[in-house]
Amino acid sequence: MAGERPRVAIVGAGPAGAFAAASILRARGDADIDLFERLPTPWGLLRGGVAPDHQEIKRLEDTFDRQTLRRGCRFLGNVEVGTDVSHAELMEHYDAVVYATGAQTDKSLGIPGEDLPGSWAATSFVGWYNGHPDYRDLEFDLSAERAVVIGNGNVAADVIRILTLGPDELAQTDIADHALEALRASNVREVVVLGRRGPAQAAFTSAELRELGRLDGVALHVDPADAELDAVSREWLAADGTFTARKNVELLQAFAAREPDTGAARRIDLRFLCSPVEIRGEGRVEGVDVRRNAIVREEDGTLRARPVGDEVETIACGLVLRSVGYRAVPLPDVPFEERRYVLPNEAGRVLTPDGRPLPGVYTVGWIKRGPTGILGTNKRDADETVAALVEDLAAGTLAGARAPREAIDALLAERRPDLVSGDGWRAIAGQELERGRAEGRPRVKLASRAELLDAANAVRS
Ligand SMILES: Cc1cc2nc3c(=O)[nH]c(=O)nc-3n(C[C@H](O)[C@H](O)[C@H](O)COP(=O)(O)OP(=O)(O)OC[C@H]3O[C@@H](n4cnc5c(N)ncnc54)[C@H](O)[C@@H]3O)c2cc1C
Ligand SMILES: NC(=O)c1ccc[n+]([C@@H]2O[C@H](COP(=O)([O-])OP(=O)(O)OC[C@H]3O[C@@H](n4cnc5c(N)ncnc54)[C@H](OP(=O)(O)O)[C@@H]3O)[C@@H](O)[C@H]2O)c1
Repeated sequence: MAGERPRVAIVGAGPAGAFAAASILRARGDADIDLFERLPTPWGLLRGGVAPDHQEIKRLEDTFDRQTLRRGCRFLGNVEVGTDVSHAELMEHYDAVVYATGAQTDKSLGIPGEDLPGSWAATSFVGWYNGHPDYRDLEFDLSAERAVVIGNGNVAADVIRILTLGPDELAQTDIADHALEALRASNVREVVVLGRRGPAQAAFTSAELRELGRLDGVALHVDPADAELDAVSREWLAADGTFTARKNVELLQAFAAREPDTGAARRIDLRFLCSPVEIRGEGRVEGVDVRRNAIVREEDGTLRARPVGDEVETIACGLVLRSVGYRAVPLPDVPFEERRYVLPNEAGRVLTPDGRPLPGVYTVGWIKRGPTGILGTNKRDADETVAALVEDLAAGTLAGARAPREAIDALLAERRPDLVSGDGWRAIAGQELERGRAEGRPRVKLASRAELLDAANAVRS
C-alpha cells in the first residue's frame, strides 16, 4: 500500500457513514472511498427516519452530497454487505472497512400479545410513512378511534404527530403517497401515550415535547396528578436533573394546567408511570392492559420504574405502536456484542472477542454506540473513528488491499448488475424532486424497490 492512495469501504450510507466519509476526506484528501448501501438511496434515517413534517432537517442531505459524493466518494447502492459481498471480500479489496450499518430492527417489549395484528413496532410505521421500500406493502388498520403509543422518546413524538396532524398539513410534506392516502381515511381521534417512568425521566427533547402542545386542531392532555413529581424524582431533579429534564417537567406542568380543549378534532393523552403488561384482543388488538409504577432509586443511582399494587387498567384501542427503541443486527463474520447490540470497539476500532483491535476494521454511528443520539452526535463520533483510522494508516498497521481497484467493480458487476451508482441516485432524486415541484411538495418519493431501480436505470439506457 506504501505510496498508494488508501482505499476505504464504508458500509451503510446513513448519517454516520456520510460524516465518516467527509471526515476521512478532510484528513486524507487522497483516499478513495466507496459507500456501500443496501438500499438504492443514500442517507439512511435522514431519508427513512426523520419525520416528513421536519423538512428543515432533511436539508442536511445537501451537505452530505457536497462533502462526499461531489468530492469523489462513490455511492454503491443496492448492495448488501454480508449477502451480496462478504466481509472477507471487502478486506481483500480495501485497506480499511468502516461499518456504519445503524440499528435496523426494533427492541421488543417481551409482553403477551406483542405480536397480535394491530400491534406494530414504531420502526415499521416510520419506514412505511417515510417510503422505505422494505415497508412499502404494510397495511396499517387506522379504523379505530384510539391508538396507544408505548414509549416517551423522540420517535414516539414523531409517530404521535403523524397520527394526529391533519392530512392537509401532511400533504405539504414528502410523506409517502401510500401513507398519506391511508392517513386521509384514518379514524384515529385519540392517541394515548404510555411512559413507564415519570415526567422528569421522559426521553423527549424539549423542542419535540413543546411541539406536541402546539399542533393545530390537537388537544394535549396531561393529568395534573401525573405531572406532579414523586419525592424521588423531585430530589433527583433538584440535585442531578439535566436542563432537558427540568424544561420537560416545566412544559408538562404547563400542559397539565391548560383548560380542556373539548372542541379539538384530535387529542393526545400523555400518561406517566404506567407500563403495558399485556396487549389483548381476539385475533387482533382490542386493548392494552397497564399497571402503575413508582420511581425507585437503585444503588448505582439510576432511577427505575417498579410496579406498584396489582390494579390493572385496560385501555381499549385498535392500534398499538411500540416505540421503545431500535436495535442493531449482527453482520456475518464481524464480531458482535450480543449484550449491548453493538460492534465491540474502542474509539471506533472493532475488537476481536479477546479484546484486540481487528486490523483495518472500524465502526461508527448507532452500530458503534447503540441506537441513541441525534444526527450531530454522529459527526463527533465519526471524527473519533476517523482519527483512529488515519492514525493506523500513518503507522502502517493495516494489512493493505491486495486486489487491484478494478477487481471490486468486476465482482460487484457480477453480483449486483442492478447496482445503483451516484448517477443512479441522482436520477432517482431528480424524478422525485420534479414530481414534488409539480405537486407543490418538497419531493414525491418513489417508495418501491422496483420504482427506485427503474428510475436509477433510466441513466444507463
Ligand atoms: C424515526 C427517527 C427519526 C429521527 N429524527 C431525527 C431528527 O429529526 N433529528 C435528529 O437530529 N436525529 C433524528 N434521528 C436520529 C438520527 O436519524 C440517527 O442519529 C442517525 O440516523 C444514525 O445514523 P447511522 O448512520 O448510524 O444509522 P442509519 O441512519 O440507520 O444508517 C445506516 C445505513 O446502513 C445501511 N445498511 C444497514 N445494513 C447494511 C448492510 N448490511 N449493507 C449495506 N448497507 C447497510 C442502512 O440501509 C442505512 O442506510 C431520528 C432517528 C429515528 C429512528
Ligand atoms: N427530532 C429529533 O431530534 C429526533 C427524532 C427521533 C429520534 N431522535 C433520536 O433518536 C434516538 C432514538 O429515539 P427513540 O425514541 O427510539 O429512543 P429513546 O430516546 O431511547 O426512547 C425510548 C423510550 O422507550 C421507553 N422504553 C424502553 N423500554 C421500554 C419498555 N420495556 N416499556 C416501556 N417503555 C420503554 C424508554 O423509557 P425509559 O427512559 O424508561 O427507558 C424511552 O421513553 C434518540 O436519541 C432520539 O433523540 C431524535
